[in-house]
Amino acid sequence: MLQNKNIILGVSSSIACYKSAGLARTLIKQGANVQVIMTQNATQFITPLTFEQLTGRKCLVDTFDRNFEIKVEHVSLAQWADVCLIAPASANVLAKMAHGIADDMLTTTVLACDCPKFAAPAMNTRMYENPATKENLETLRRYGFTLIEPEEGLLACGDVGKGKMADEEVILDILEAGIGAVKDLAGKRVLVTAGPTREALDPVRFLSNHSTGKMGYALAKAAMQRGAKVTLVTGKTETPKPRFVDVVEAVSAKEMFDAVMSRAADMDILIMAAAVADYRPQNIAAEKIKKMDGNATLALERTDDILAAAGAARRSGQFLCGFSMETEHMLENSRKKLEKKKIDMIVANNLRQEGAGFGVDTNIVTLITKDSETALPMMTKEQVAMKILDAIVERGNE
Ligand code: CTP
Repeated sequence: MLQNKNIILGVSSSIACYKSAGLARTLIKQGANVQVIMTQNATQFITPLTFEQLTGRKCLVDTFDRNFEIKVEHVSLAQWADVCLIAPASANVLAKMAHGIADDMLTTTVLACDCPKFAAPAMNTRMYENPATKENLETLRRYGFTLIEPEEGLLACGDVGKGKMADEEVILDILEAGIGAVKDLAGKRVLVTAGPTREALDPVRFLSNHSTGKMGYALAKAAMQRGAKVTLVTGKTETPKPRFVDVVEAVSAKEMFDAVMSRAADMDILIMAAAVADYRPQNIAAEKIKKMDGNATLALERTDDILAAAGAARRSGQFLCGFSMETEHMLENSRKKLEKKKIDMIVANNLRQEGAGFGVDTNIVTLITKDSETALPMMTKEQVAMKILDAIVERGNE
């Protein structure tokens, strides 16, 4: 998402400077061009050389440094940048940026930047809670800065409270959501189901499946990044919840059915990536089932098909997308589901293919609609999510 983006990483004086090295490395790994500008005081915590090794570019500290591959003027650097991220942002640098003070390379460049700006404050909790800092943060917000809230915890000075620079994943999520994607789903309400369901047998046992929810979570995140208001209805999984989406937990197929159907009418797009149980035990034993001599048989009953119910209740203009996991006759079986469940698109994958299915980070899918079939090569679940949303947006524009 940050591929080829020109990023100015401003590093100001805080013990959190060491985290900026990891951040610079991750940004580079994502294909971004990273230009680090440090304040003089920050060089007491970490050397410019560290950033130079990580980014392959000269790290700038002094405003009058001319030894740089693009014309080193704060203005040309500001024009080069697609995004400016100050992490860590000290109380002093925040105050300067809030008041248009430009007395070093970092603050001069920031003042000349008209690209999106992000700041991740890091400081002692009392400095953070000080009304002067609060007012500066409010001013920066008004000036269009995206502020990445510090976290609470044990600070380097021994105090406990708010002031720790946000974690790298949080910074990246906010950066990507802010600049990484076209906002072609702005104003759309999207509901995604994800993960497995659990059907209780007794107070200690349940029937479930191997779904980790990764595909659905990637879809929810991608839709959020493209500007949609996202509701993620999820079964129990260990996969970290995406930020900035409304998460609704649903354990059983019945709970997921109720969670989806009570919200479906308000949605523009519904994507059902959950692996919902087709059957549940006919009776849930109130007490733990004790073992007996010999074999046992479970009586199962059908669950309601959420996707089919949403298809039957659909209102005009709504887009419905389902998933189909098959071990044989993938295209034929998936097309049948598309028709039977009265939906617009089905994403078919074959569990037998290496690189597709449960638990792995990649998927190999075919997007099937009434009149088209698009086989995609193996790609990460994040990339598959983007392709699915591309297809949905394309159809919406027809
Ligand atoms: N689905 C659902 N509610 C169910 C079962 C499935 O919403 N009770 C959705 C899944 O989220 C998926 C799609 O239906 O989007 C296809 O599910 P799948 O289990 O592959 O197909 P089924 O129609 O259940 O058919 P079969 O199990 O026979 O393959």
